[in-house]
Amino acid sequence: MLKKKQFGSNFIWGTAMSAFQNEGWATADGKGESIWDKFTSGSKLIKNQDQIGNASNFYKDYNQDISLAASLNFNVFRFSISWSRIFPEGIGQINKKGVDFYHQVIDSCLNNGLTPWITLYHWDLPQKLEDRGGWTNRAIIDWFSNYVDFCTKEFGSKVKHWIVINEPMSFTGLGYYNAYHAPAKSGLNNFLKAAHHVTLCNAIGGRITRENVSDAQIGMALSCSNVKAVDKRSINKRAASRVEALLNRFFIEPALGLGYPSDHIPGLSLILKYFEEGDEELIKFDFDFIGLQYYFRVVTKFSLFPPVLFATEIPPKDRTKNLNAMNLEVHPKGLSKVLNFYNQYHGIKKIILTESGVCYPDQIINGEVNDTKRLRYHQKILKEILKAKKKGIPVDGYLIWTLVDNFEWREGFSPRFGLVHNNFNTQERIIKQSGYWFQEFLK
Ligand code: NOJ
Repeated sequence: MLKKKQFGSNFIWGTAMSAFQNEGWATADGKGESIWDKFTSGSKLIKNQDQIGNASNFYKDYNQDISLAASLNFNVFRFSISWSRIFPEGIGQINKKGVDFYHQVIDSCLNNGLTPWITLYHWDLPQKLEDRGGWTNRAIIDWFSNYVDFCTKEFGSKVKHWIVINEPMSFTGLGYYNAYHAPAKSGLNNFLKAAHHVTLCNAIGGRITRENVSDAQIGMALSCSNVKAVDKRSINKRAASRVEALLNRFFIEPALGLGYPSDHIPGLSLILKYFEEGDEELIKFDFDFIGLQYYFRVVTKFSLFPPVLFATEIPPKDRTKNLNAMNLEVHPKGLSKVLNFYNQYHGIKKIILTESGVCYPDQIINGEVNDTKRLRYHQKILKEILKAKKKGIPVDGYLIWTLVDNFEWREGFSPRFGLVHNNFNTQERIIKQSGYWFQEFLK
């Protein structure tokens, strides 16, 4: 049976959420528009044509949610800052009410005995900056530096845990390569340009944070997948290693001083077009921890499309019944492989699982949500973490995605990941069986 003490007394237990997915109140108190406000507003693109409305109302209910997290016995609360709440236009004028809001959130964490962990960028770029090219414009280095400098100076005396950028591969891939997410740009050039600027900002943001908050723990949060070739043929194995380079190596290796993984994806050297003098040095940063975010397994084979990658995914639906509500393959066991993989790098001091979770449809029966499948998922993840720790891999924390059901980007409200159920019409919360389990387990 799993016991909290098996993980050691320094292990970090928390939940994670993001501004756009939870806050709502997109125009309140002087907040500027973000690319996700624009992408979703009145849009028919979102699954079931969901409208975000006030999401899960965190802007008003933060105190209730933070005390809920404390009542479930977590000790860390991870959230993100909405850049356009602080700088409505991305740069320039500061919105004092936005600043006050994050002070209140931080204070609520501290008053509830939770350590606040802040993500500086969780995908909601100010629209005014996107109008000038967003992540594809190298000027973003200055815009982002200014934002990070402000936040770390403003909140740094109270907040010591900082994640610079959340899942660079997800938002550059979906937002700048295949136009599935905001800001709906596409093409290899947009992707490579955006990706390189994100790499630069990740490291530069890390350095600014270290300068402003000398006792900070600074990390980046990377999406990672268990990647497998469909069979043993070498053409498919090579395809899988390209996919692995893209999904698991692309953003960590430049920070560690290894450059982009163009050894496995030769076409990736096209990114060098966007290098300026000194960039080889600028993209390095010795993060205090690496946040890994693990959700699914990917099975691949060789394919002529897309070029550069020459690999494609076998749709999970065609090969397994272990699907989550987004039709991704649920594969908690694969976490071990991923942790072993990252453990091979020199220079990773500490790993925190900064996100993992699973979405299944929930049912309320007699006022209760018995989400046994979600609970089993988290228990399996915990077992994989324990296995890794026994091998000496420095995994020092688990932040669950997520506390309260929220808005899952393009998939809308139907994928529920929370330990706490939310009724998006009334904003009424019901702790699920998984939430009660953690409450007992963490006691
Ligand atoms: C990772 C992202 O950081 C988060 O925003 C998203 O909701 C979860 N994955 C689940 O898909």
